[in-house]
Amino acid sequence: MTALSVKVDGVKYSDDVEPRMLLVQYLREKLGKVGTVIGCDTSNCGACTVHLDGKSVKSCSVLAVQADGGEVTTVEGLAKGNELHPVQKAFHQCHALQCGYCTPGMIMQSISLLSENANPTEHEIREGLEGNLCRCTGYQNIVAAVQSAAGEMSGKSLASAGAAPTDETGTLR
Ligand code: FES
Ligand code: FES
Repeated sequence: MTALSVKVDGVKYSDDVEPRMLLVQYLREKLGKVGTVIGCDTSNCGACTVHLDGKSVKSCSVLAVQADGGEVTTVEGLAKGNELHPVQKAFHQCHALQCGYCTPGMIMQSISLLSENANPTEHEIREGLEGNLCRCTGYQNIVAAVQSAAGEMSGKSLASAGAAPTDETGTLR
């Protein structure tokens, strides 16, 4: 076993873990952070995306011990009390999910994308999310949500951000 000390969603944890334990297993099985999901276990789908020291990583391709001394943020650490992160809000408002399985990873990757490019084009959003797969193929609304969040985070309205809002059924208006 190897000693691991890591901050996750603002809380410090110290544990002894097997050196082969993946970060996603540590988050889910040791800490109960089941908001981070496993879609493929082979670094293809992006469902397990979290932030490690401010950068998005696929937590199925990182060993837990590699996070030693670091800081991890999962989708469960984004909201401030009852206040959702703007990207979470935008996914909700734009109905950017169907089954929701890809959503935690999509949101974490979208935040990472917007931290590097505050005003991405549609093409840049699609490129930035290319490592995240949605098996429900709801990409149109996911892109709209990222555009909406970009507008919101830079103080522009949904309409001026060029987003495509949807009605409650998820149909683009
Ligand atoms: S579960 Fe990590 S990329 Fe699919
Ligand atoms: S909403 Fe179902 S996999 Fe993306």
